[in-house]
Amino acid sequence: MAKLLLTILWGFVALNNYVTSYREITSPDMVGPIWGPGSSCRRQLQFLEGGYGTDIIQPPELRGEWVSTRCEVRSGPEFITRKYKFNSDMSFVLLQFYYTDHQCQLPSYSVRIRGYLQLGATSFAVPGATIAQYELERMSLIAFKVESADHLRVKLNATCLSQIGASSKFQPNERIHILNLAHDHRLIDCASDIGLTVHELQLIRQQARSEFLQDEARTIVWEELLLGNVHSNLTLRKTYRPETFQTPLRRYSENDKDCAICHAVRRGTETDPPILPSRQGLAPAPLHGEWASLTCEVGSSYFITRHLMFMGNDTWETHYHFYKDPLCRTPVYALSMKGTHTPPLSSKLVDGATNVDFTLIAASLTPQHKDMVRTLNAISKSECGGKAIWKLGRTNDVIQNGGCASLVGLLVVKQHDLIRIEEDSMNGLVLYTGILPTDGTLKDSEAKRPTAYQEPLLHCEGPDPRTASLVTDMDNNGNSVLLKLSAFFISIVFSFVL
Ligand SMILES: *[C@@H]1O[C@H](CO)[C@@H](O)[C@H](O)[C@H]1NC(C)=O
Ligand SMILES: *[C@@H]1O[C@H](CO)[C@@H](O)[C@H](O)[C@H]1NC(C)=O
Ligand SMILES: *[C@@H]1O[C@H](CO)[C@@H](O)[C@H](O)[C@H]1NC(C)=O
Repeated sequence: MAKLLLTILWGFVALNNYVTSYREITSPDMVGPIWGPGSSCRRQLQFLEGGYGTDIIQPPELRGEWVSTRCEVRSGPEFITRKYKFNSDMSFVLLQFYYTDHQCQLPSYSVRIRGYLQLGATSFAVPGATIAQYELERMSLIAFKVESADHLRVKLNATCLSQIGASSKFQPNERIHILNLAHDHRLIDCASDIGLTVHELQLIRQQARSEFLQDEARTIVWEELLLGNVHSNLTLRKTYRPETFQTPLRRYSENDKDCAICHAVRRGTETDPPILPSRQGLAPAPLHGEWASLTCEVGSSYFITRHLMFMGNDTWETHYHFYKDPLCRTPVYALSMKGTHTPPLSSKLVDGATNVDFTLIAASLTPQHKDMVRTLNAISKSECGGKAIWKLGRTNDVIQNGGCASLVGLLVVKQHDLIRIEEDSMNGLVLYTGILPTDGTLKDSEAKRPTAYQEPLLHCEGPDPRTASLVTDMDNNGNSVLLKLSAFFISIVFSFVL
């Protein structure tokens, strides 16, 4: 609901076609004392706010190979790696590898998809993105285990099974053609029954990235391909058109020294899927310290930087900054929240993940764009006897009971979230938080607890959750896990409005 509200607010702002080179830096009351002048979290966020290190390539130039940089998690959960190749005639071959574990070490089945892509106009709804259409030619899959084959077979109806050619053929390591629309063949179109679609090709953003590595005194450059998101509800994936993006793919280069996983994924084939190296995860996640966005993140209809803090006494605090442009240069509003949380518990549903519930106690909002001020004042006038209380750059408490700025009826008091902390070979210690339901609702019930993650946040300040009162142990699978000694550690949140 709150997300909906702010999306509407934002939509309002976006539709007002203002001319702007305006930028107001504000420091809401809640922000000041925590982000000290030398804070490395603050420096990291300022870097993102300038749009440094990212150039959007438009129109996209997709020719080449693109690979996953990690074991990606989709709602379900599904664990997947991707290897996509686009040719100069815009034909493509997409390879998707599905796994049963969160480390992407136990392949379940692979999917090979051939077709053509046609780039269209730039997107009005998602700044920086290009709309595209695709046409599929063939899709086949290979299951690697009897259980995987059985799992896929039961999703097909009798017509599809007979078209595909007798259910007995659905065996491990056999290639099954589940879609064939090439002219010289009989028609088979059973991919979406299995939940396989490539609507992600309908929304595309390509960007050049660069980063200066202080320690090694060198600049690294790479290219990313962001494709459309998939719906968090599996049954709605068939028809969903993407409105935001999923985890970026990285342009494959033989000389890329910074992405070992890229090379592993590139070597994968339809019959021989990539096996990714183990990552050290901390489970249940001992939430502690401060965490900040690694990029100007793409939401649906806004762009955002996040800064999350765990105080170590069951309290959390977050600062979100919303922007109207894909390089996070034009702020629209800032939102700060704090509250308490439950002790982290290992998730039974998502391998390697932690369940945490966040309760909201305080929230404040700072409009940073004149159109946002106008929109908020329209609300306060109607709710509060004609009073326009919002001013540019001025922070108001939005929780306070009876306050004219109150949006309390729209905020969810308790969020059911999914958290993971892990050691990422490219970025260091990162924290993942759960994605929001794609239908625009919030994580406000156990049933809506996410099964996939948003983009990771980097540990930037404060206690390192790996040290001190943590011990390493082995779980039943031999995976190294960290056990927490005290219930002292706990955690965070934020997507109260996201
Ligand atoms: C079986 O699935 C295919 C592909 O989705 C569909 O076209 C067909 O109508 C279905 N047949 C029956 C009998 O449900
Ligand atoms: C997914 O969508 C279907 C169809 O709208 C709905 O019946 C089902 O409850 C949804 N599942 C979840 C977990 O929201
Ligand atoms: C938790 O710790 C933070 C930071 O040390 C402090 O500001 C806050 O008052 C503490 N809250 C409680 C409930 O102890």
